[in-house]
Amino acid sequence: MSTDSSSSFSPSSLKQAAAEKSLEFIQDGTTVGLGTGSTVRYLLEALAQRVQEGLRIQGVPTSQETAALAAKLNIPLVDDEAAWEIDVAIDGADEIDPQWNLIKGGGGALLREKIIAANAKKFVVIVDAAKQVSALGLSFPLPVEVIPFGWPSTARKIEQLGYQVTLREKNNQTFLTDNHNYIFDLKGEEFNIPSEVAQQILALPGVVEVGLFVGMTSALVVGSPQGAIVYHHPPVT
Ligand code: A5P
Repeated sequence: MSTDSSSSFSPSSLKQAAAEKSLEFIQDGTTVGLGTGSTVRYLLEALAQRVQEGLRIQGVPTSQETAALAAKLNIPLVDDEAAWEIDVAIDGADEIDPQWNLIKGGGGALLREKIIAANAKKFVVIVDAAKQVSALGLSFPLPVEVIPFGWPSTARKIEQLGYQVTLREKNNQTFLTDNHNYIFDLKGEEFNIPSEVAQQILALPGVVEVGLFVGMTSALVVGSPQGAIVYHHPPVT
């Protein structure tokens, strides 16, 4: 594993350590859900090396960004509209709580990420240790994907639930997801009961998906200064 010149324990080196370790979940001849984000970029680079050495897999990308990078790295991909049988999906997270619930969507790919995680036999999360938090939402806003139609009214409904809503922008333009939707970033209290928060927001018309991944993580790889640590079983709650 290469490291940043500034520090051998930089966030990027910890992400890389977790990503490379997660290769042990990928078996020959399988279909692999490929997440999105900077941690997953390290996974794609390491996976491409294995593919070049003869590993046979096919990937299901969670975003156009991942699809483009995978294609550039010669990782075989399946068609978007195929009936996938995903053996394992591997993805990063913005926050992970002690019960392995996640906030995802910092990169705006939460909808496709959730579809692929939900359809994988195993969902492996790869994070650097800084992503581990005592409760979700204390520092990272909650991404919510909404359809553009009537979005100010959808925002008002969410505000009535007690959250501050910011419409995501990129380069001074409204951010558009791969599904041609918008993203709201929600600030509020910590999400102590994430399943209830997710249900409450998802019940509003106009909301497509909420970036809370509750009870979906089946294995975890954490990049820490002590090395990449693999946890094979969710915590008992
Ligand atoms: C993409 O929409 C996100 O869910 C990412 O998986 C998440 O933001 C983690 O990204 P990094 O690996 O870049 O921290």
